[in-house]
Amino acid sequence: MRKKVTVIGSGNVGATVAQRLVDKQMADVVLVDILEGIPQGKSLDMQEAGPIEGYDVRVAGANDYSGTSNSDVIVMTAGLARQPGMSRDDLLKKNHEIVKSAIGEAAQVSPNAIIIVVSNPLDAMAQTAFRVSGFPKQRVLGMAGVLDTARYRAFIAEALNVSVQNVHGFVLGGHGDTMVPVPRYTTVAGIPVTDLLPKDKLDAMITRTRNGGAEIVNLLKKGSAYYAPSAAVVEMIDAIFNDRKKIMPCAAYLEGEYGINGLFVGVPVKLGARGIEQIIEIKLTAEERSALQNSADAVKPLVSAIGVA
Ligand code: 2OP
Repeated sequence: MRKKVTVIGSGNVGATVAQRLVDKQMADVVLVDILEGIPQGKSLDMQEAGPIEGYDVRVAGANDYSGTSNSDVIVMTAGLARQPGMSRDDLLKKNHEIVKSAIGEAAQVSPNAIIIVVSNPLDAMAQTAFRVSGFPKQRVLGMAGVLDTARYRAFIAEALNVSVQNVHGFVLGGHGDTMVPVPRYTTVAGIPVTDLLPKDKLDAMITRTRNGGAEIVNLLKKGSAYYAPSAAVVEMIDAIFNDRKKIMPCAAYLEGEYGINGLFVGVPVKLGARGIEQIIEIKLTAEERSALQNSADAVKPLVSAIGVA
């Protein structure tokens, strides 16, 4: 039987997630939005591309959750997008209401699903989805680390003129200005990046990674990034559907790991059919650990402000 994915939000991120999933024939997709006609129109358009692209998976659009039951994965993308000058945190209260109501409905009809949250501010919205769904912590995660790491990897690959596939690394922490790229764990074909790039160049790339979302928002003027965010979501779904046990940075609910308790923060996890199968605790220097703590501290007031701490 084919897998089924509910994608909540038919804006650029949601629609591109749906498109990538059907192009790769990974699942039937139900695209849900409160806007009448948009999810229906976009999904019909994708369905009609099937004969050309050669996919038989089904894409449906809806304004309610009746057709989404028994989904294997729920992707939460709905919410206001950032405009120039807005931080991810400016979206907090509005998007909290949206995530609360959408996840409440979607989780009820797909009680065994794994939830991947993309709506911003990411870590606080993941925590909202966790509280509202009542799902075990292994089945609620936030997409950010994969995106932030992809940006970091892209910049390094470009600077060194090597394949992106050679560049590995982690970006830890919250999906915000305090995120923590870790050069010590960044390698190029196994070679530490610190041997290949001078510190000032690497620091500039770290800063660019931290501002990666804003860089795109400032260029687009309206709305935020969606090609790389949707690719990141689909990589996570691929790890789940194929039980790859792939280690990737995701926002996960921590209960003491890295000295952080009761909070979603980006850390390396092992992602497989059961969702987060393990939180990997890598050794951090005192400086890295304090940067991660600082990033977690930036998430704390947000979850308190919306009552999901
Ligand atoms: C990004 O980093 C908007 O959080 C989104 O592009």
